[in-house]
Amino acid sequence: MNYTYLIEEAIAAREYSYSPYSGFMVGAVLLAKSGRVYRGCNIENASYSPSICAERTAFAAAVAAGEREFTVIAVAGWARDGTPGYAFPCGVCRQVMTEFCDPDTFIVITAAGTDSFKQRTLRELLPEGFGPDSLA
Ligand code: THU
Repeated sequence: MNYTYLIEEAIAAREYSYSPYSGFMVGAVLLAKSGRVYRGCNIENASYSPSICAERTAFAAAVAAGEREFTVIAVAGWARDGTPGYAFPCGVCRQVMTEFCDPDTFIVITAAGTDSFKQRTLRELLPEGFGPDSLA
């Protein structure tokens, strides 16, 4: 798969980041099996702990729209000065992905640009995860 469009969308989503406390602006775009894409950005809070990551706002938007199956998430997380870097999802976001995504096929992209990205499966990021099957 060519990830250029998804990375461009993640970089565009980053512009909506509300991150006055950390200054670390993150955008994410989640591709559903339906073919639709859902944007997310990090949204911080003066009380700090209610802050939510870009990846989880993308999942919230998608699930609220009726989606349950996903193939790829692309993330662009760079400091406010815009210097590109590679931000992998935090542990909480990896756990949320595990709720909805096949660990062996779901792809996580972290992008410093359309030509500069790293690609991992969810299982690489969260081996031995606890998911819905763990309760069966
Ligand atoms: N953040 C994300 O949105 N996604 C990540 O993958 C890592 C961290 C946010 C949370 C917080 O608003 C800021 O980046 C600094 O941690």
